[in-house]
Amino acid sequence: MQRRSLVVVTNRLPFDESVAPEGAFDWQHSSGVLVSPRHAHLREAPVTWVGWSGHAGPPPELPDTRGLRVRAVPLSEEEIRYHYEGYANATLWPLYHDAVEHPTHHRRWWEAYQRVNRRFAARTAEVAAPGAVVWIQDYHLQLVPALLRELRPDLTVGFFLHIPFPPPELFMRLPRRAEILHGLLGADLVGFQRERSARNFRLAIADACGIEAGQGPVRVDGRQVRTGVFPVSVDTPAVAALAEAPEVRARAAQIREDLGRPRTVLLSVDRMDYTKGIEHRLKAYRELVADDVLTAPDTVFVQVTVPSRERVDHYERLRERVEREVGRINGEYGRVGAARVHYLSRPLDRVEVAALYRAADVLLVTPLRDGMNLVAKEFVAARTDGGGALLLSEFAGAAAELCDAYLVNPHDTAGMKRTLLAAVGADAAENRRRMAAMRAQVTGHDLHAWAELFLEALVPPAADLAAPRGA
Ligand code: G6P
Repeated sequence: MQRRSLVVVTNRLPFDESVAPEGAFDWQHSSGVLVSPRHAHLREAPVTWVGWSGHAGPPPELPDTRGLRVRAVPLSEEEIRYHYEGYANATLWPLYHDAVEHPTHHRRWWEAYQRVNRRFAARTAEVAAPGAVVWIQDYHLQLVPALLRELRPDLTVGFFLHIPFPPPELFMRLPRRAEILHGLLGADLVGFQRERSARNFRLAIADACGIEAGQGPVRVDGRQVRTGVFPVSVDTPAVAALAEAPEVRARAAQIREDLGRPRTVLLSVDRMDYTKGIEHRLKAYRELVADDVLTAPDTVFVQVTVPSRERVDHYERLRERVEREVGRINGEYGRVGAARVHYLSRPLDRVEVAALYRAADVLLVTPLRDGMNLVAKEFVAARTDGGGALLLSEFAGAAAELCDAYLVNPHDTAGMKRTLLAAVGADAAENRRRMAAMRAQVTGHDLHAWAELFLEALVPPAADLAAPRGA
């Protein structure tokens, strides 16, 4: 049987840009599963990845590797400012995350968003084989499904939103709300992390476009558009293998040693983003330190923040606030040789992150709103030793699956303090039981399973074609 080829379209290409120019990319850094040949319908079929290199100017020429073709889309400096930093990350990102920061609206950003989406659609139309399956990812590219359908009606188009789709009360603030929805409705299947996002999307279609969108497929221009829920996950076997590596185990032991052999290591790993609740968590920790409940040197807190979107105002200001708070905690409660917060604000390599996961007693993941939060799942996947505990915000998509975490509301400082103390003080057997249940979850639902489920819903096996799946 002739397999259908797959084109994956993401704003950013899936490799570490620092190694790309030499041509020696580390595909391990990517969500490699998307190009894995495991999906029955796509096995032996060529895969093409379309995306931006992360830099301004002409696109790099990238050699094909392991059956994967990479086709870069160029962005100018102005498009990076207006499309990526502007419309995507200062309009859509805050709006879609409960407007925890104020979304900014500028017409020139919207114009750049349209222009860049048109370029992605044109590049995809150019490289997709006849009848190919195209899988478009995330909020930067919401107009691409409809634009692509116009150019190439022969393609099967899927779209997956990695971040939450906001409630209609928020979404309706968007000046170009109907255009965004019509863009998404160009897909055959629109996937979300959680049912509530799928529901919000259907409500928005009714409110903004006047199109009836009940439980079943949405009818648009004589076509059917399905929605579905596909919670994204991590490459559990790869994370577990990394965490088991002798190098990682040795480094984990060394980290505890370097921290002064504390009884309890608390850890957080986040992109520096205001959605992650970093300040809320630091406040709860500061109060516990001030109350003299978490005492030095018994307990240490390691906060890793990876710089992100640094030229966007919200991010620049957040970094200043976080660093002021870390300085305040260390200044008021630390002593020479015993910092209360070990703060690292730079990207760490995978070995170091895996070692930190293994060295930690409690991982604190406290977003105010998060589509999924893969750090939480990665931590669980990395704890092949059965140790550790996870404190998790109920506003992270991951909370729907990792029900055995210590769930918290990050706005409730007293509750967070209480729950953190419960996690720290719980007996080892209780924490092992919780971690085992969560490990079973991320083992059964890993990144491979996610991609397979989506692609199977998008392109049902021939026998199922008469009865499309998804709601
Ligand atoms: C979130 C988004 C991704 C994005 C990532 C990193 O997870 O859903 O689409 O790639 O953040 O953000 P960046 O702006 O560096 O691409």
